[in-house]
Amino acid sequence: NNDRSTNVVWHEHRVAHEDRVQRLGQKPGILWFTGLSGSGKSTLADALEASLFEQGRLTYVLDGDNIRHGLNRDLGFTDEARVENIRRIGEVAKLFVDAGVIVLTAFISPFRADREIVRSLVEPDQFIEIHARAPLDVCEQRDPKGLYKKARAGEIPHFTGIDSPYEAPEDPELIVDTADHGLEACVAQISDALRERGMI
Ligand code: PPS
Repeated sequence: NNDRSTNVVWHEHRVAHEDRVQRLGQKPGILWFTGLSGSGKSTLADALEASLFEQGRLTYVLDGDNIRHGLNRDLGFTDEARVENIRRIGEVAKLFVDAGVIVLTAFISPFRADREIVRSLVEPDQFIEIHARAPLDVCEQRDPKGLYKKARAGEIPHFTGIDSPYEAPEDPELIVDTADHGLEACVAQISDALRERGMI
């Protein structure tokens, strides 16, 4: 246990979560994209954010590649590092929700248990797990960053789907089949689902 907060006392502030929510007039929450490298997580999050922002929502995207340049620059891709990566992202996402924001996250987040931990950090209706689903061979064919090629050549150890596991969600709020549908159709599918849930 790394908990070193024994003598730290929680502080309540005068401006409460409800006050911020009322000011912003939106339902905050986490739209958690998970999927293989090249499955379309970042592309979906980016396009969905643009659409929500256009409709007047306050949104923010947390994205694997970007967060790993800053907050999580000390983390690699061992199982332990990925667990810590997702733990920190979960805590950051929770802060955004507290601030009233709709936060979209795009991380492989390969382990079911870690995604469930993040789910438990917010209210049940504030966590929407979205599986960006595409078969490995499709992701490998897309290979937008040339990483699968490198991984197959043995140049990237612990690459997800090759020699590091990906645990697909068992009961996600949404599955988006990015191999069968174009970007616009996928974004429309997610928007419709969010509307049905009363989130937007
Ligand atoms: S994780 O598993 O959730 O901690 O990963 P994440 O923070 O989303 O980072 C994934 C991106 O890092 C690049 N990359 C790798 N991915 C998987 N395995 C290995 N070994 C690896 N090394 C580098 C890759 O560009 C991932 O980006 P996406 O957008 O998923 O393709």
